[in-house]
Amino acid sequence: MNKNVTVIVGTKWGDEGKGKIASREAKDAKLVIRATGGNNAGHTIVFNGIKLPLHLVPGGIVYPNTTCIIGPGVVLDLEVLLSEIELLKETGISDIDSRLKISGRAHVILPYHKELDVLYENFKKHPVGTTKRGIGPSYADKNNRTGIRMYDLLLTEDELKEKIEEAIKPHNQLFIDNNMKEAVADANSLAKQYHIYGEKLAKYITDISPLISDSIDNNEKIVVEGAQAFRLDLDHGDYPMVTSSNPVVSGTLCGAALPPQALNTVIGVDKAYNSRVGNGPFPTELPASIDENGNVIENVTPLEGDIVRDLGHEYGTTTKRPRRCGWMDCPILRSAKYTSGIDYLCLNHLDTLGQIGLKLGYVKVCTSYKYKGQVINYYPDDINLSHEIPEPIYETLDGGWTIDSSCKTYDELPELAKRFIEIVEKASGIPVKYLGTGPANDDLIVRE
Ligand code: GDP
Ligand code: IMO
Ligand code: MG
Repeated sequence: MNKNVTVIVGTKWGDEGKGKIASREAKDAKLVIRATGGNNAGHTIVFNGIKLPLHLVPGGIVYPNTTCIIGPGVVLDLEVLLSEIELLKETGISDIDSRLKISGRAHVILPYHKELDVLYENFKKHPVGTTKRGIGPSYADKNNRTGIRMYDLLLTEDELKEKIEEAIKPHNQLFIDNNMKEAVADANSLAKQYHIYGEKLAKYITDISPLISDSIDNNEKIVVEGAQAFRLDLDHGDYPMVTSSNPVVSGTLCGAALPPQALNTVIGVDKAYNSRVGNGPFPTELPASIDENGNVIENVTPLEGDIVRDLGHEYGTTTKRPRRCGWMDCPILRSAKYTSGIDYLCLNHLDTLGQIGLKLGYVKVCTSYKYKGQVINYYPDDINLSHEIPEPIYETLDGGWTIDSSCKTYDELPELAKRFIEIVEKASGIPVKYLGTGPANDDLIVRE
């Protein structure tokens, strides 16, 4: 079998800049595939000066020769999908109707999933801090075999109604028990509404397997645009503070309907500093003025975390929530390397880290942890049991740097930035091949 697949995955808690590098890698690709999650993802690409915040359609859509696929592992909010297609058409991206394909096996997020997402979060003593987009409840229905698939939208309205009726029974009972009468779903009106969506989207809904087998047989490049990230993985992340899919490479291949034998290259994406949105452990987190509702406290002296957040514009693409910020964590990268088989790293925001260093007077890199009295170089599995967050051991660099748009090669980088990269490579065991120097698709140094 030809090995023509490049997978792009996040190595921390999301928002590492996967959209940018995936879109850029897609330049010479035939297929570009989204594999996990839904519109909990927000992938910003900046192409020809136009900023596109995409939630569902792969960023490779900006290149006219690509076919973009939303794979069977994705869950779809159809209103978001339709408005995204509209945005792309308005932006002047050509031939969307022939170049966008949606697997009939992808599942649909219905309004009751969003209501359930909020309700389950309210039930919890320690909420996850989900995006409230209905992601978890939609995957739960899928696992319970009561999910509605894109293919179901192509059935008759009566057939669709029957499926929705079955799906909503337990949910409606829960809404009634919790005095949420307005949330109770009506199968008739939902079937009518989603049947119309089916008519609108029919041209995109398809069996993607022939597209994939032809591309593999013809040795045409396939790029998988991973969403979410290693520490948000349902099986391998900070459970229960995770998402409900498997964004590590194996889960991503499954969600994209790709055979592992076709895998050629895995690019892990990280930022030169780290961020997290939502709750859960974050060993290198810096203190910030954020209140208990997750909002920024205004008019106070900024703390280190506030400075990093503001210099990096770290506010969620999807929810606009301020992101928690901290220093680069290499033990997590090292664990990601072995969980996902990462060949190369793409390190974005090297420009921003330089500015952070100039402002604070130093830059830190966590190279190992102190945990249960020992020094370790991987992310421990049992922190929920020990209630102990691993304590970072840092290397510190004095000062910062400036990288302007004229800097196009590794050799031209400031010496301190090179030193930072060397530390990351040594502690993570992963070669850094791509360096992000700005938000645009081409703001990238490729190191041969
Ligand atoms: P994703 O979810 O992994 O695709 O990442 P997001 O799009 O949610 O967040 C990454 C943010 O960083 C976006 O606003 C990007 O435009 C921006 N970005 C990506 N790479 C760089 C970089 O190298 N430098 C700077 N300054 N911004 C970047
Ligand atoms: P991209 O692809 C950042 C986080 C949420 C929350 C947890 C569970 O843009 O990197 P969910 O709504 O999925 O049930 O929320 O997962 N989360 C993300 N954080 N970037 C993402 O995607 C995320 N997708 C989910 O903030 O902590
Ligand atoms: Mg994002």
